[in-house]
Order: sequence, then C-alpha cells, then structure tokens
Amino acid sequence: MGFAVSADAYDRFMGRFSRPLARDFADFAGVGAGEALDVGSGPGALTEELLARGARVTAVDPSRSFVAAVRERCPGVRALEGAAEALPFADASFDAALAQLVVHFMADASAGVAEMARVVRPGGTVAACVWDHERGPVGPFWTAAAEVSGIAPPPPRVGTRRGDLARLLEGAGLRDVVEAPLEASVRIGSFDEWWEPFELGVGPVGELVARLDAAARARLCERYRELLPAPPFEARGLAWAARGTRA
Ligand SMILES: C[S@@+](CC[C@H](N)C(=O)[O-])C[C@H]1O[C@@H](n2cnc3c(N)ncnc32)[C@H](O)[C@@H]1O
Repeated sequence: MGFAVSADAYDRFMGRFSRPLARDFADFAGVGAGEALDVGSGPGALTEELLARGARVTAVDPSRSFVAAVRERCPGVRALEGAAEALPFADASFDAALAQLVVHFMADASAGVAEMARVVRPGGTVAACVWDHERGPVGPFWTAAAEVSGIAPPPPRVGTRRGDLARLLEGAGLRDVVEAPLEASVRIGSFDEWWEPFELGVGPVGELVARLDAAARARLCERYRELLPAPPFEARGLAWAARGTRA
C-alpha cells in the first residue's frame, strides 16, 4: 500500500499534514500524561505530539522502515512491527489508543478498532481519524488522473465518510462516542514543492504516479497544476475524528 518507503519520503508527502493534524487530533482525544498507544504510527508524527504532552508512548506499525524511524527519532519509545488487527499487547495495557489516518488502510477495520478497545483499560480512550473521501489533502488529484489517464477514482474506504468512525467505535462496544471534523492546512509556496513528493511512491497516490510512464506522468502533473489554485496557496484536508470510552 505504498508504505515500504523511507520516513523522509513519507514526511515530504503526507507528514506535512500529519504534524498539524496530530495537534488537533491529540486535543480532540484529550490525551495527556499516561500510557498511550499510537496504532499505525508511520514515522511518528502523532507519537512526537503525544510525547510532547507528557505521555509514555508505544508505537506499532506494519512498515519496517517506519518502525525503524520511530526508534531513531524517539529514543525511549517502544516501537514494534505489527498490525492493528492483532495488537501484540495484553488486555487493558494502555490509557489511550489512537490511530491517525490508519483505519481506512486496515484489512479489517472492525477487528482493528476492537483490538484498540481491548488493549485500553476500562475508562480509557480509543480515538481515530481519517481523511474525508472527497475533501482530503490531495484535492483535485483524482479528477486530473481520471481526465488524463482514465483512472477511476478509488471507491470510499471505511472511515472516510461522516459517521463511519463513530459506527466503528460503537460497534467495538465503546461508550460516549463523539465524532467531529478536523482540518489541517499547509502553506504551499510553489507547484514543484507540492508535486515533487507525489513522485516518491508514498501511499496509494504515490503508487499510482509511480506506475505511470514519463509522458503520462507529465500529463497528469500539468492537468493537476491547472486544477489547483496559483501558488502560493493553502492546501487543506478535512478529516473525520471519533473518540469513545472503554466501558
Ligand atoms: C497515512 S499513514 C499514517 C501514519 C501516521 N499515523 C501519520 O499520521 O502520519 C498510514 C499508516 O498505517 C499503517 N498501516 C497500514 N495498515 C495497517 C494496519 N492494518 N494496522 C496498523 N497500521 C497499518 C501504514 O504502514 C502507515 O504507516
């Protein structure tokens, strides 16, 4: 799924949004000091935010390069390879389990959220956020891809629509579930600054770009440039966030 990439490539493509989003998401989840689990940590944007709030953080991610990056960037953080659907922790090990931009990539989102609930103590918090299907940060990328290469936009994944995450958390038996929109924005100075990270193979978008030959890639890039505002512009992504309390 495009996550066997370097932490630097990830940071340049999605990490530029993950960091501001992590601040709002940690506020929304209400996480402070205590034992926190960052599920699908990537190279650690949310882990770093939780550490700054005084939490003791454990990070888990299936990507070997991202786990190595968390170990290097956050000495003292326990970082493990693993998937949400089979978390390698005992029941009630954490005060909070958070997943930022991960639920839509889980092979089984219900099982992943149920695992997050299992490893949180009674009274603890489970929270997740995912980009909205249509209002994520890549904007008109899929419109450009459809127009110049006939590539159909992907169908909505679970978690990417209003209400999805709240239903998943309620399905896992969490109580007092609340859902809210979060917005992350990044100032983009030039189109090249915006586009170059699309060529680094990160995530489904990066994989798609990497599959195109040079001519198709150039056509996509030019059409995308036409559809975006003239730089400098503010790139914005809307995410849905939900939190609930373990009964
Ligand atoms: C868009 S990145 C988000 C990374 C990080 N949370 C952030 O906000 O920058 C999605 C992450 O989910 C991880 N992932 C994919 N499938 C997963 C699963 N089943 N369980 C846990 N993490 C998963 C990927 O390896 C990747 O690091």
